[in-house]
Amino acid sequence: MIAVTSVICAASFIASCGPVPPAEPAEENPFRDMPNSAMATRSGISLEKLHDGWGLYMRKCGECHQKKHPQDISDEGWQKIVPHMSWNAGLSEDEEQDLLNYLKAANSEAPQTGSPTNALL
Ligand code: HEC
Repeated sequence: MIAVTSVICAASFIASCGPVPPAEPAEENPFRDMPNSAMATRSGISLEKLHDGWGLYMRKCGECHQKKHPQDISDEGWQKIVPHMSWNAGLSEDEEQDLLNYLKAANSEAPQTGSPTNALL
């Protein structure tokens, strides 16, 4: 018992001397990429349709991997990826179009820093 206790003490001593662990990443805001009326005006796509696309994105696009934000990838990149990923997610053609419209509309919210992804192309 003495041995066990001293091992625990040693372990906690080492831990307390170690570098300060990084803070837990803040819980990401689930509404970060939510469509808004400015997005609808800018893209010419109705807010309702953008919500359809956003809903698909939220429900389907994080099943297998972390969702990429719309701004992470350029419009051209989305254009190439979405058909492939819509197939993965089992979307209909209409749903695929809604998703693509949404991703492009949300993408134009921010300066385009994304580039066409080369992971799958
Ligand atoms: C059935 C699982 C599955 C679903 C559902 C899925 N993906 Fe993927 N995704 C993958 C896999 C596997 C890859 C790796 C590349 C490949 O498939 O060729 C990938 C890669 C990607 C990439 C490229 C990542 C990079 O770093 O370049 C993007 C972007 C992406 N997916 C977006 C989406 C979107 C948007 C949806 C929603 C329609 C979606 N995915 C749904 C499996 C999935």
